[in-house]
Amino acid sequence: MISKTVIIVIVFFSTSYSQFCNNLNDNDDLDWWQTAVFYQIYPRSFMDSDGDGIGDLKGITSKLDHLKNLGVSATWLSPIFDSPQVDQGYDIRNYYEIDKDYGTMEDFKSLLEAAKELGIKIILDFVPNHTSDQHDWFLLSANRTKGYEDFYIWRDGKDGDPHSPPNNWLSEFKGSAWKWHEGRQQYYFHDFSEQQPDLNYRNPMVLEEMKKVILFWLDMGVSGFRMDAVPFLVEDATFADAPLARGYTACDIDPICLNRENILKDRDETYSIIYSFRALVDDYAKRNNLADPIVIMTEAYTTPENTVLYYGSSTDLGAHFTFNFNLLTNLPNSNFTVDDIANAINKWQVYLPKGATSNWVLGNHDNHRVASRVGQDNVDGFNMLTALLPGVMVTYNGEEIGMPDGEVTCEQGKDPAAIKNCSTFDQTSRDFERTPFQWDSSKYAGFSTSEPWLPVGSSKNWLNLAAQIDVKSHYSVYKDLITLKKNFKKRSIVDNLSIIKVNEQVLQVVRQRDEADYILLFNIGNSDQTITFYRKALDYEVVVTSITSQRSIGEKIDNLITLKAHESLILRSAELC
Ligand code: GLC
Ligand code: MG
Repeated sequence: MISKTVIIVIVFFSTSYSQFCNNLNDNDDLDWWQTAVFYQIYPRSFMDSDGDGIGDLKGITSKLDHLKNLGVSATWLSPIFDSPQVDQGYDIRNYYEIDKDYGTMEDFKSLLEAAKELGIKIILDFVPNHTSDQHDWFLLSANRTKGYEDFYIWRDGKDGDPHSPPNNWLSEFKGSAWKWHEGRQQYYFHDFSEQQPDLNYRNPMVLEEMKKVILFWLDMGVSGFRMDAVPFLVEDATFADAPLARGYTACDIDPICLNRENILKDRDETYSIIYSFRALVDDYAKRNNLADPIVIMTEAYTTPENTVLYYGSSTDLGAHFTFNFNLLTNLPNSNFTVDDIANAINKWQVYLPKGATSNWVLGNHDNHRVASRVGQDNVDGFNMLTALLPGVMVTYNGEEIGMPDGEVTCEQGKDPAAIKNCSTFDQTSRDFERTPFQWDSSKYAGFSTSEPWLPVGSSKNWLNLAAQIDVKSHYSVYKDLITLKKNFKKRSIVDNLSIIKVNEQVLQVVRQRDEADYILLFNIGNSDQTITFYRKALDYEVVVTSITSQRSIGEKIDNLITLKAHESLILRSAELC
């Protein structure tokens, strides 16, 4: 059946082709990161070089050729710093040292050097909200050592009662956000696990110390930072109870039943802190005459209005970009529709400040993997989508081969928030998306020579990199996409964009570039679909095809086209100038 094309949202910048063509020879004035592909490595699960079942820095170095082959521009590493590993490194004991699980400072320097040779930038995870409860600052603060008394957030129990937390604030990892400290005879506040006490940013010394951390790693040669959990940096100073969120009558475990905005998160002071980090790295780049800017990307799960505040303004620059999680949060499971994808994209475009660089995140270590969320057969279509949309593309390791989640039991699990309650582990654990990278089909998937810290996913037998190298595969599609993204004649982050619902099952995305129109056609469903699609130019040819497609590259595409189930294609119009 042929269905009518419905245009949902069209065109942000209306410019005629002739104007585009005039611009074709303009100098490329974008910075490297604005059209880059950032590849997230979860070091614990990427590659183990010494056979202890835990991924490490030497392992990453040994696999840099994989990143090079993919064509990614930079990699951001989840935390590699000295840590008791309660929250897999997001509980830092010493910001200046490499965790022994991951290697030594020498190993890190070798990684930096090897990456530099390959033209791959290294971005570190910076965790400003909290430290480990084993960090020296916390030990000193617990002792009330002079100068450190207020490094963390300490309060007496309610009405002086040691059995009653100061207020109703709840932790992101469930339960009270207050923990009684016997030594200091006070409660301390923790947004995450009780082994992750929150730093007190009302103490200017804390900010100074964190700035020193940034400078230390910049001196080492890193190219930027992914800033963790930034909405939680500052809390309400009056320590009043948070009101119940709408629809709740009681609240004592899950913080979603509290209205946390402005009390536990998203406070104005938070943005100023990020702007001050930006000023610091810009100043560093300037003072050191760096050819490339140092990049800051922020992680904030919050409302769209608050998310974009991290970008800052022309007078107060903030993050270079702040993760756009819409394709994650708006499509949590396989019940998604074409409208859901279109809305996820449009919602972001509506809020994105003028002139800001867009970005598209498909996965990370805190959310189920793309293949498990949207279905194995739709992986290529989603990779195509994020590669075609303007701006930065962010890929979580394994998504380039379409790895699904692994299988982990509560007993095997390590996620601190989930293992507290085995009855809800399957719903809450983040261990599934953290299982080892599947390099090949051997016992431990080529990740390690011994039992890995989390079990290898059973899909490694049929889904692994080795099996995808020389054949048409998620991997080959991904590589084609990066090549396409890189070969856009004039790099741009502001091309005309149309997101079109062709029918209930087919999404069309049109990106009008200077040199040609690019069109994504994506059949998300289980049945073949015959469609006509919105087109401006006369001739279109196929430039990238999903593994579900039988078409060949260069094939000319007619107005009337039948897309196979889950087929996705990127088409290119004839040269426009
Ligand atoms: C971020 C990290 C997550 C961690 C949390 C606390 O959301 O991505 O893995 O548990 O911060 O540091
Ligand atoms: Mg906090």
